[in-house]
Parts: sequence; C-alpha cells; structure tokens
Amino acid sequence: MTKIIHVSAECYPIAKVGGLADVVGALPKYQERSGITSQVIMPFYAKDFTKSTPLNCILNSTIYLAETAFDYEILEVPKKQLGFTVFLVKIQNLTDREEVYGYLDDTERFTAFQKVVANFLLLMEHKPDVIHCHDHHTGLLPFFISYAYKYKALKNIPTVLTIHNAQYQGEFSFDKLNYFPEYDLQHSGMLEWDYRINPLATAIKCVWKITTVSPSYLIELQKKANGLESLLQNEQPKSIGILNGVDPEVWNPKTDPLLIKNFSIQNVVSGRKANKEWICNEFGFDPNLPLVAFIGRFVYEKGSDLLPDVITQTFEKFNLNVNILILGSGDLETTSKLEEIQKKYDKKYNHHIGYNEKLSHIIYAGADFLLMPSRVEPCGLNQMYALRYGMIPIVSQVGGLIDTITDIDNGEEGFGITVKKISVHEICFGIQRAADVYNNKSFYSSKRKQIMKIDNSWDRSAEQYINMYHSLKNN
Ligand code: ADP
Ligand code: GLC
Repeated sequence: MTKIIHVSAECYPIAKVGGLADVVGALPKYQERSGITSQVIMPFYAKDFTKSTPLNCILNSTIYLAETAFDYEILEVPKKQLGFTVFLVKIQNLTDREEVYGYLDDTERFTAFQKVVANFLLLMEHKPDVIHCHDHHTGLLPFFISYAYKYKALKNIPTVLTIHNAQYQGEFSFDKLNYFPEYDLQHSGMLEWDYRINPLATAIKCVWKITTVSPSYLIELQKKANGLESLLQNEQPKSIGILNGVDPEVWNPKTDPLLIKNFSIQNVVSGRKANKEWICNEFGFDPNLPLVAFIGRFVYEKGSDLLPDVITQTFEKFNLNVNILILGSGDLETTSKLEEIQKKYDKKYNHHIGYNEKLSHIIYAGADFLLMPSRVEPCGLNQMYALRYGMIPIVSQVGGLIDTITDIDNGEEGFGITVKKISVHEICFGIQRAADVYNNKSFYSSKRKQIMKIDNSWDRSAEQYINMYHSLKNN
C-alpha cells in the first residue's frame, strides 16, 4: 500500500464548512507520516487560501455535461504547503465560485467534478492503490470507475467510502443521466434508490469498503439513515466504524495562534481566564458566572431549533445564574428567535451569527461548557476540541458523542455531562448540572485537567485506516 487519494468537497484550511474539512485536512498528513503517499483532490473555490497561495496548473482540458462543454484546469497545491499534495479542480462556471455548497446547480457542479477526477486518475502515471471517497459529493466516482467504458483501466482499484453524514445524499432525477459517461446499462440499478439517482446509495453499493466516522454511528445507521437503513443493513459486512481524531497541530491550546493567551495544563487557570475575559468583554458577560456555549450549524440534526426555548427556560424556569453564548448560522427561524431573545436577555445571552474560525477557537479556550444537544452526530469534533482546551461538554447520547464522552457521575473516569433525552427540559437540566460542577471549584479544576490529557489524536485512527486499506488487498 503506497498511495491513497482522498476525494472530497472540503479540506481545511482550503475550504471548510464543517468537520469534513477538518478530517480531510488532517488524515492525509498523518498517513504521509506513516510512509504512505496520501493526496487530496477537491473542487476549487474562490477563497482566501486559493487567492493567496501559488498554484501550479498541471492539466487543462474540457469536460461535457450532456451537450454543454466546460473548460477546466487542475491546479496543484505543492506538498510542502500542507504536508500532503492537493489537486484543485477548477471548472469554469461551475467550481470557480466562493461557496462550497448551496447552489441550484450543485448536481452539475459535483457530477462534473467527479468526471474530471476520473479523467485525471486515468492520466495519472502512478495510479493510487486506494481511492477514498468522502460523503455523497464523491459518491458517483466509484460507479464511474466500476462501470463506465471510458474508465475501464481504473476498475480494479479498491474504493472506500467514508460516511460523515448520511442525512445528505445528493439525490436527483434520472433526467440528468445524460451527464454520465457511457456505461454498461445492466448496472443502472446501482444508481437508483427510491426511483432517483442517489449518489450516497450508489457509493454504498459500489465501494469495496464503507467506514463511518464513529463505531456507534455505524450501529445507529442500521436503524436510522434517512431512508437508507435496509441498504446499510445489507452492506453491513463491508462496513466498519473508525472514530475521527483531533489534529494537535491545529488544535493545541499551547500553540494555537488564534487564542488571546496560550496555555497548557500547568497554567490552565490563567490561560483560560484571559480567553474568558476577552469573550465576556466582547459579549457583555460577567466573567464570574459559568459560561455555556454552542458552536455549530443551525440544522435539525444539531438540535439547534431547541436553543431558543432552552435559553428561555434556563433563565425563567430553572432560574440559573449562567451566561450563554452561541456561534453559528443556518436555519432562519432559529436565527430570528435568537435575535428576539438576545434583546430580552441582554448581558445573559449573546451570539455571533455567522462563521468565525478565530472566535470558535477562543470559545473553546475560554467558555466553561460546550452544549451539543445533537439529534444526529456521526462523530462530532467540537466535543473533542473542547476536551483538549479544558472545556466540559454537555452532550446528548448519540453517535460519536457516545464513543467520546463519559458522564461525570461515572466515578473517576467520568468527565462530561450527558443529557439522557433530547428535550428542552433535559437540556436545561444538563446546564443545571454544569452550573453545579462549576460551583464545586476543586472538583471542576481537577476534571478540567483530566480532560485535557485525553488522547483523541489522529495517530490511533490513522493506523486503523491503514489496516483497513491493507484488508482490501486480500479481497
Ligand atoms: P459538523 O461537521 O456536523 O458541522 P463537527 O463537530 O464534526 O460537526 O465539526 C464542526 C467544525 O466546524 C468544528 O471545527 C467547529 O469548530 C466548526 N464550526 C461549526 N460552526 C462554526 C462557526 N459558526 N464558526 C466557526 N467554526 C464553526
Ligand atoms: C459530519 C458530521 C460530524 C462529523 C464530521 C466529520 O459533518 O456531522 O458529526 O464529526 O462530519 O467526520
């Protein structure tokens, strides 16, 4: 096993919407360190990174979607930049825009991207030993290389799909089948799920191996996978759960350049105090009170729709003397409710609506508790970052949260606050428990030191991926 290529829509620091970027920005680096050539191919986006980094054009050509031609270039980010080579696929009028997702022609954008990837692989002199796809945006590629005549030479390369999130499947109608390269029609069934072309289902059917980003998520998907349950049950024998890791080169309170003050376990008290004071100053809070924060996308899976009621009941019903800070964006109804609440509970509740990488780091380093009332959490990286920075997570019991957080009532081993049921009342109860922990100063301080020592680094998970790649050779 010498060469892996990851195919992804996101990769930190080039383009990030969520945890997918963090994973694809870290895993190849750790694979490279264990002696494998690990590369990434992703769409180009007009972002700060691509504007400020010198890129070498290594190929230009034209791709067709039905009758429409699109010129494209493949630009290389040299290995010395990130520790692994990245290829950016810049397709004129499709993948030369700023945002990663959310355009009406996302189907066209990602289908064209995957065709270019297949063309590029065909031209590659030293072919990869494994093609590792991430989520539905790359789910058609395993089909193209398995069944399209043009890509026959790639047919025997093992393929892997990592499911970061099965809620999104990228489905579209069969009218768009003419975007595809010519393929052996007897395999059309591989594309179909519920009478539509479903790229996630296609990849699940076609790949040699499926991984999920935590072991518990793999179990959950058998029962709850947004319509793909029976398929995932069938494909269970080729599936394995591998927990994500934390990249300590990005997420390290001792060296993190985005913090107000860096710290380690030795000076955690003064370090966290400086970061908390900055937050309190910025958002009008009292630094002596426990500060509970939420960081994330406002989507149903994250439980963000419950936040407005949670805030109201925390102050009105539970009468808790805490401050709450939210960093996130997404659902507009949640946003407008939060705006209302902010006016009402000035000095107790505040937020930053939007995406802000720097602020997120300072919150991990300064706020006391991280609230994650997720309904679906395939892995969750936030809680792992929180632990490294000495912030205690308050989490629901789903997916990767089950695999990474043990309740503080579980004796010496416990360190987090788990919420048994995803309801406003139970979440508020979790915040109440957090406030009690905060007020028990010596217990709080010892737990904070305990969590900073937990090792969730990539080394362990990167090795599991390598073992999984090796198992493909024996298939
Ligand atoms: P998901 O990928 O489902 O959004 P994860 O927990 O895996 O959830 O990863 C989320 C990542 O995105 C973390 O790095 C988190 O800090 C970051 N993040 C989420 N929302 C924001 C935001 N509004 N501003 C800055 N960072 C954010
Ligand atoms: C997805 C999941 C999240 C996971 C991330 C990285 O976005 O929602 O739980 O941590 O992918 O694998």
